[in-house]
Amino acid sequence: MDAQPTTPSDAPDASPTTPSPPPDAPSRDDELGPPLVELHGVNKHFGDLHVLRDIDLTVRRGEVLVVIGPSGSGKSTLCRAINRLETIDTGTIAIDGQPLPEEGKELARLRADVGMVFQSFNLFAHKTILDNVTLGPVKVRRTRSAEAKKEALALLDRVGIGNQADKMPAQLSGGQQQRVAIARALAMHPKVMLFDEPTSALDPEMINEVLDVMVALAKEGMTMIVVTHEMGFARKAAHRVVFMADGQIVEEAPPEEFFTNPKSHRAQDFLSKILTH
Ligand SMILES: Nc1ncnc2c1ncn2[C@@H]1O[C@H](COP(=O)(O)OP(=O)(O)OP(=O)(O)O)[C@@H](O)[C@H]1O
Ligand SMILES: [Mg+2]
Repeated sequence: MDAQPTTPSDAPDASPTTPSPPPDAPSRDDELGPPLVELHGVNKHFGDLHVLRDIDLTVRRGEVLVVIGPSGSGKSTLCRAINRLETIDTGTIAIDGQPLPEEGKELARLRADVGMVFQSFNLFAHKTILDNVTLGPVKVRRTRSAEAKKEALALLDRVGIGNQADKMPAQLSGGQQQRVAIARALAMHPKVMLFDEPTSALDPEMINEVLDVMVALAKEGMTMIVVTHEMGFARKAAHRVVFMADGQIVEEAPPEEFFTNPKSHRAQDFLSKILTH
């Protein structure tokens, strides 16, 4: 970064909201694109349980949004609703201006635009790593096999496991399997990637290898919604943190602001618990 003899607030890369962003902080909000994922008035019940309450949320192209909150607050349900793995009762969800269709081919196409990485890697156990990555493009995107293979190998390289392509999932570590899951999602050329606690099932020494891949993706401008309690990731890569409790968005702020100065009691209480872990 160039040090300029002008006053810091006049410097071209000074952020108007955060006085001292970390050196590798993502681009400022005004560099983000138009709305890509839009939720308006979304409600969802499981029986008597009101799990999503009047959720309004807009994620812009290139934005990295971290969703954080206590267990049972509705984070996974929110992700699943965005991918239409879960229906909603009222409200609207649109991806790139297209409302989520109910079912059928349109839904399949739209779902292919949303990459999803879960806590459990969900790889096909009886297929090789390479086949796990090529299956979606070949079956859903109708990519030719040779082309899908070439791209899969490039993606596996990109997530650091290019030399594991012929192995079976069980022969890989958890961190490696999760990176395959990321490569598999990327192979579909999604417009947005959803991550639901992608590192919480991993041994500590494998967490960073997965987070590093995610940080790199974020830097490349991928639109990401990430449910995680990894504050290091949020600080490094997120534009915004959304805090959920009891099915509601209680608070949202840039990561530094949220972690250093949470406004709601719920967030203060939650952070004090995860910080003292
Ligand atoms: N299929 C389901 N049927 C009934 N209740 C459900 C179902 N899925 C989730 N719930 C309930 O909905 C609430 C929200 O669950 P959700 O999994 O979205 O929370 P979460 O914030 O992801 O929690 P965690 O941090 O534990 O993953 C919880 O009370 C959960 O028990
Ligand atoms: Mg969850």
